[in-house]
Amino acid sequence: MPIVEIKELGAHVGASVTVRGWVEAVRGHGKVAFTVVRDGTGVLQGVLVRSQVDEATWELQQAFTQESLVALTGEVKEDARAPGGYELGVSGVELLAPSDEYPIQPKEHGPEFLLDHRHLWLRSSQQRAGLRVRAEVEQAIHDFLYQRDFVRIDTPILTGAIGEHAGTLFKTDYFGDDAYLAQTGQLYVEAACPAFRRVYCFGPTFRAEKSKTRRHLTEFWMVEPEVAFADSNDNMKLQEEFVSYVVERALEHCAEELKVLERDTSRLELVKPPFPRISYSEAVETLAAAGADVRWGRDLGAADEMALMEGRDVPLFVHDYPKGAKAFYMKENPADPRTVLCDDLLAPEGYGEIIGGSQREDDLDRLRTRIREEGLPEEAYAWYLDLRRYGTFPHSGFGLGVERTVAWITGRHHIRELIPFPRLMNRLYP
Ligand code: 4AD
Ligand code: MG
Repeated sequence: MPIVEIKELGAHVGASVTVRGWVEAVRGHGKVAFTVVRDGTGVLQGVLVRSQVDEATWELQQAFTQESLVALTGEVKEDARAPGGYELGVSGVELLAPSDEYPIQPKEHGPEFLLDHRHLWLRSSQQRAGLRVRAEVEQAIHDFLYQRDFVRIDTPILTGAIGEHAGTLFKTDYFGDDAYLAQTGQLYVEAACPAFRRVYCFGPTFRAEKSKTRRHLTEFWMVEPEVAFADSNDNMKLQEEFVSYVVERALEHCAEELKVLERDTSRLELVKPPFPRISYSEAVETLAAAGADVRWGRDLGAADEMALMEGRDVPLFVHDYPKGAKAFYMKENPADPRTVLCDDLLAPEGYGEIIGGSQREDDLDRLRTRIREEGLPEEAYAWYLDLRRYGTFPHSGFGLGVERTVAWITGRHHIRELIPFPRLMNRLYP
């Protein structure tokens, strides 16, 4: 009997095959029993009619427990009502590996319980759907950048210089010296620009965030494109085309998954370039007029971002933040030197900032001054300053947080569900 995957059943209608999978549910008593199995490519219902098999086969099926690994053999039948469109008329069953009493039952469990059992929770239908969308988003990211001639540059995870800000560093011992887990790959993709013009890195980044919010992880994945000769305006154009492409790919390739997640996709269909833009100063005015407690100069918080996004279905750029609210490497705005040429892209529906981007300071003296003002160790940035010494060039780039983006696309409340094994302030297992 050929052993087939569930996704291939369509090619075997009328034939007898064997399917191996984990038991999701066992139903029915007396005359007919149903076994629902999942094999990683799909879900299949096997129908066993007691009068058509010997008693041992019937008894074995009746003893199946949730998540036991089993083999079902039988005839493939087309059935529009069945999940996946096919059913198996079971003639034989085999228990390949029994399962102990499975901790995750088809009922409500608390989030901490589910996170404690993340290694098993991954098997649940909504978790499978969310992580498939994540995989599609990651593939779309690579495809978009590849089509536009970006060269992928893998950047180090152990670093000597602070990438973003001193407050959220994971420090580790490096043969007697201090090393930090990378907060960003940006400084390294900047170095690769004069070699390849358009580059990007894609990888895990680390921040010792002490906040327990729905949008912070201590380990998250970021894609960071960087482009020589691009200014802040070009940068925002690339971001809106990039995000629109990624959303479109998820809509196109993950319709099934988005349905499982009960995502209202009509709102995602509106995500097309260009995205609206407002300056930070305009944002502050808008918020102040609405009665929010904002002061020019401070970074915007999650509540501010929510307020700015009210009534909007399409992401919004907020650009040109005050220098003091942003990282040291951003280029001073010649039109208003109190600000820098940067942007945050805010997603609708409460998801907030999914991208941080900027034009980079390409003037050696100004960059050195900023490093000193921030109290950063200048020696650690000697190599980075070299980029402004040997043929400095205008350039811009951005970082898109994968989990926040996927949380928005899937409509999940907390980003911890969109990474297979989340790392949170209080969570290092599983
Ligand atoms: O705005 P951030 O800090 O920008 C950078 O790291 C730049 N070096 C990027 C660049 O210009 N190349 O982070 C970028 C994005 C945020 O917009 C957010 O989506 C995500 O990374 N992010 C986080 N996601 C999950 N948990 C956290 N703790 C995050 N911190 C940032
Ligand atoms: Mg940011």
